[in-house]
Amino acid sequence: MKRIILWTLLLLTAGWVGTYAEDGSRLWLRMDAVSTPAKVTGVKGTALTELQTYWQGGPVVLKRQKGLKADAYTIKSQGGKIVITAGGDAGLLYGAYHLLRLQQSGQATSVPVGSAVGNLDITETPFYDLRILNHWDNPNGTVERGFAGKSIFLNPTPERMKMYARANASIGINGTVLNNVNAKPEALSTESLQKAKGIADQLRPYGIRVYLAINFASPMRLGGLKTADPLDAEVVKWWRDKVNEIYRLIPDFGGFLVKANSEGEPGPQDFQRSHADGANMLADVLKPHNGIVMWRAFVYAPQSPDRANQAYLEFMPLDGQFRDNVIIQIKNGPVDFQPREPYSPLFTAMQKTPMMVEFQITQEYLGAANHLVYLAPMWREFFSFVKPASLRAMAGVANIGDDTNWCGHHFAQSNWYAFGRLAWNPNLTSEEIAKEWLSMTFGQDERLKMKDESAAANYQLSIINSPLVKLMLDSREACVSYMMPLGIHHIFAGTHHYGPEPWYAPRGVRADWTPPYYHKADSIGLGFDRTLSGSANVKQYPDELCRLYNDINTCPENLLAWFHHVPWDHKMKSGRTFWDELCHKYDDGLRQARHFLAVWDTMQPYVDQQRFEEVQRKLRIQARDAEWWRDACLLYFQTFSKRPIPQDMDHPVHNLDEMMKFRIPIGMYENPECGYTK
Ligand code: GCU
Repeated sequence: MKRIILWTLLLLTAGWVGTYAEDGSRLWLRMDAVSTPAKVTGVKGTALTELQTYWQGGPVVLKRQKGLKADAYTIKSQGGKIVITAGGDAGLLYGAYHLLRLQQSGQATSVPVGSAVGNLDITETPFYDLRILNHWDNPNGTVERGFAGKSIFLNPTPERMKMYARANASIGINGTVLNNVNAKPEALSTESLQKAKGIADQLRPYGIRVYLAINFASPMRLGGLKTADPLDAEVVKWWRDKVNEIYRLIPDFGGFLVKANSEGEPGPQDFQRSHADGANMLADVLKPHNGIVMWRAFVYAPQSPDRANQAYLEFMPLDGQFRDNVIIQIKNGPVDFQPREPYSPLFTAMQKTPMMVEFQITQEYLGAANHLVYLAPMWREFFSFVKPASLRAMAGVANIGDDTNWCGHHFAQSNWYAFGRLAWNPNLTSEEIAKEWLSMTFGQDERLKMKDESAAANYQLSIINSPLVKLMLDSREACVSYMMPLGIHHIFAGTHHYGPEPWYAPRGVRADWTPPYYHKADSIGLGFDRTLSGSANVKQYPDELCRLYNDINTCPENLLAWFHHVPWDHKMKSGRTFWDELCHKYDDGLRQARHFLAVWDTMQPYVDQQRFEEVQRKLRIQARDAEWWRDACLLYFQTFSKRPIPQDMDHPVHNLDEMMKFRIPIGMYENPECGYTK
């Protein structure tokens, strides 16, 4: 029966198959218009327009109902119609996108394309009220750690902004910080604010508010004042005037994101004031406008013996001292977006302060836009330690640029998608999200184009049951294995964080910006002693975890070298020595990366030629890079371990001295053409 329905639908819809280039520019919204409705305004107008343009089913009614949460919605089949009910217009829009998602992801048996209404009874409430992208975009158009071209806000064309807004709204993202956390004072100049207003106007109909990152010294550097002391009356007045100016232009402005006293950025400590003094002053001037302050806890100083300890040390004494419209924004791990970190202990320590997590969607430390690494499993791992309900909001550092396919790698789109879906519901599984994304991104047009009935009927099933799902789910762990397994961290090249340089330690560079600070390899072993007899970082965790992490025999092996200086001959659960296990992990990671290529090749019949070839090229880079990582790390660490590479694995094929001379001439704003090319 299902087959007959589907085949009928295929015939019915054959005329709608689009003529779009398969260049990834349509993201997961690969729907073809079925009509061109008249323009209507407002968020509800957007909901109506989206449905009229793309919905192929029966009549849909949009209804506001008092008492429901603004963004929550229900979708119900009622009396021959589909009724979307929501507390506010944004909820109606999210409901509309939900319906379109059902249509598009081929759940066509419950909502058949061209059919009446199906049998729907859906209730959705977002877990977090604030679901925010952080763009690290600079005024000159470069994007810090951006691997997908220039900033989309440099010359924001209406078409591109519309697509950006639709993509975000379709997954529930409702806020965006337009500029880099390393903010220039000019971000608040009248000229920049006019530009921000232009963008805000384009995003508003999609329920998206804009926010700005600010430079704490703006009153001096932009306003010409002698100080930026947050307790100085002139300074407060400057901020109040500036905030009033912003709200005149952008009445629904969201608020400020602040990186203060971190990596050389100015902050209240420059004036002997605390983070709380700085954050509260800004919170007070934003409060009358309902604005918020997202104050980052990413702080560390070169003199500290353990960078992982510092955010806790600086922020714990301030717990409970922040205004209620301040949220402390904390990176998921205590160091810096590494392929694997334990969660930042601040999350379980701070009890009286609203907190939000900052994930990094852009793959600064996970192969940039060259490696296929699906990040949902990493974020879900975080939530297995930190209760979603203990947080107020979720932020993600965007991986978006002006590249045709937005994210540089077709599969990097899945991370943007997964971020939005998890901010809406952190209890969704990585697998559910992967299947949803895959079926929308690769599932629609191909299915419709198939001439053969059974192939078409099986198509949707095959894409979401294909080995591609497993590939995505395995990809993060594979990346950890070939880059830095068993708790190793931050052994990246000094300048670009793409390839391995565990030896990088030029004279004069501060120690905590060099890998040896983190891996501490010597003749005894490898890893950072954060136990009670080391830096005592374990003490920042709840007692039970502290005990677990402190003992080398109970510490999870995937964090072993994070918490311990592990002797080369330490016995692992597998029965191997630590050194042998390390070698095998690197080799396993490499084998997985190579296997991804083989899996992708089996997908050729299901994927259009352009995206197939583009992904294949990237997977080849990834496999070569994995080999580079394995060889560089094992040969370098072997100079300390003085132990042989185990016989039962493939051996390095590159020479250490050549790898040590190899350079990729890129900075922090570009994606490397490819990795190791020798
Ligand atoms: C990392 C990243 C920087 C960024 C910083 C931050 O260190 O490499 O480019 O500015 O994080 O999050 O502030």
